[in-house]
Amino acid sequence: MKILSVVGARPQFVKLSPVSRALQGRAEHVVVHTGQHYDDLMSDVFFRDLGMPEPDVNLAIGSGAHGAQTGAMLGALEQVFEQHRPDWVLVYGDTNSTLAAAIAAVKIHLPLAHLEAGLRSFNRAMPEEHNRVLTDHAADLCLAPTAVAMGHLAVEGLAARSRLVGDVMTDVLHLVRDRVLAAPPALPWADDESVVATIHRAENTDDPERLRAVIEALAAVDRPVRLLAHPRLRSSAERAGIALEQGRITVHEPLPYPELIAAVMQGSGVVTDSGGLQKEAYLLRRLCTTVRPETEWVETIDSGWNVLVGTDLAALAPAVERAAPAEPDDHPYGDGHAADRVADELLGA
Ligand code: UD1
Repeated sequence: MKILSVVGARPQFVKLSPVSRALQGRAEHVVVHTGQHYDDLMSDVFFRDLGMPEPDVNLAIGSGAHGAQTGAMLGALEQVFEQHRPDWVLVYGDTNSTLAAAIAAVKIHLPLAHLEAGLRSFNRAMPEEHNRVLTDHAADLCLAPTAVAMGHLAVEGLAARSRLVGDVMTDVLHLVRDRVLAAPPALPWADDESVVATIHRAENTDDPERLRAVIEALAAVDRPVRLLAHPRLRSSAERAGIALEQGRITVHEPLPYPELIAAVMQGSGVVTDSGGLQKEAYLLRRLCTTVRPETEWVETIDSGWNVLVGTDLAALAPAVERAAPAEPDDHPYGDGHAADRVADELLGA
């Protein structure tokens, strides 16, 4: 059996790694990188650190407006799919690369599987929300990470083609956590009081007024704030004339995955608008404050380990100082073997 995975952006490389491992020796696995992310720290470093071979194809599409970027990928992917004619096209998450690959696959009648299906923010202004809803409805197989995601798929009439497999990010996190404990990587800072911060979503970066307010709220945190700056954040701040180093904020390059996990483990908490980091904080039992009005990962909120700070940014600094809640007594993100279930579903095992 031939499975063709399409990835393009940072979180997708992380999700690909356990799936690649689970498919090894069980199927032919072709990996196509759209080139949505292309900087070494946004792309290549993940393949190196997570022990994955180079992608078989790199389309080098690069950045662009949503339509232009998605359209360029769509045309290029169609040609690659025609050349390989895989038994399954496997797409990950909710980026423009995900949507482009989904459309390219169904247009030429290739079976499509969507990993991380069923997540919903119910915020239709988010590009990721369009991408995930459209991809789920195009897919022949919806591989859901959580029971809540399965519920959303059922409400939308997709129950018959949905399977609960668990979250592959738990798989990779467990592996990397154990590696970090055995051999801690060097970090750009040493204290254990720091808060790890990432801000990259369009809703927070693209409106100068919103971005200024978010940075001011971060600057009000009375701890060292290590801001790992995504290129989108740097360029938006520069364009709007907003200094990122305010209060106790220091700006750092995005970290490779093992260093990011080590930084969260060493630090006192996380402030983020990333989906993956909310869960990583939860699984590592670090307090997370999410700079968004809603989240797809509602289990982190229900347990008290994550708090949303959307419009009332004055609530951010106090939220960072809140006390840790009780240890959760369930495992909403699976047992760390989701990728094996993904492989079983694809191979019909
Ligand atoms: C994309 C995803 C988002 C995901 C994020 C992870 C979409 C719509 N969004 O957002 O869901 O959470 O990836 O990081 O697909 N840039 C570089 N170097 C790179 C990549 C990007 O400099 O390697 C800069 C470019 O200026 C680019 C901007 O970052 O225009 C945004 O990149 P893009 O891929 O459009 O979206 P992300 O914000 O990364």
